[in-house]
Amino acid sequence: MVQRKTVDDLFVHMLSDIYSAEKQLTKALAKLSRAASNPQLSDAFKTHLEETQGQVERIDQVVESCGIRLKRMKCVAMEGLIEEGQELIDEIEKGPVLDAGLVAAAQKVEHYEIAAYGSLCAIGKQLGFAEGVKLLKATLEEEKATDLKLSEFAEKAGNAQAAAA
Ligand SMILES: [Fe+2]
Ligand SMILES: [Fe+2]
Repeated sequence: MVQRKTVDDLFVHMLSDIYSAEKQLTKALAKLSRAASNPQLSDAFKTHLEETQGQVERIDQVVESCGIRLKRMKCVAMEGLIEEGQELIDEIEKGPVLDAGLVAAAQKVEHYEIAAYGSLCAIGKQLGFAEGVKLLKATLEEEKATDLKLSEFAEKAGNAQAAAA
């Protein structure tokens, strides 16, 4: 049966999806932090773990300010991205190669989140959720900053490999 969907429904769906994604990430980032050899990379994952916990709370605030209710659902995209990261941890021994893989896996996650929050901001704006959009933008900026930080690690990882060769 075809369900009639409104833009509001879409907003709720997307927000519920990223809520699930963030919750899954809190566990995954702890794993990434443990798997990383480079202490700075490990710390970066830990810092983003703390940020992510704040982002989950921020979604609760968005829900309140928009007067909506989240649906119970699982973000299968994030589940897959996390699974790919886990495969790397299972297959590669601890060291610079695994670190480079972890950075790549984490950047895929950040790009997913950037796309999700970017779309939520655009749709939320259309719906007139000014306060909610402000909160979502704050998270979007954190995701972008994390992605940039990871890019620096990616470049340094490449240099370390080249130096070792
Ligand atoms: Fe996040
Ligand atoms: Fe993130």
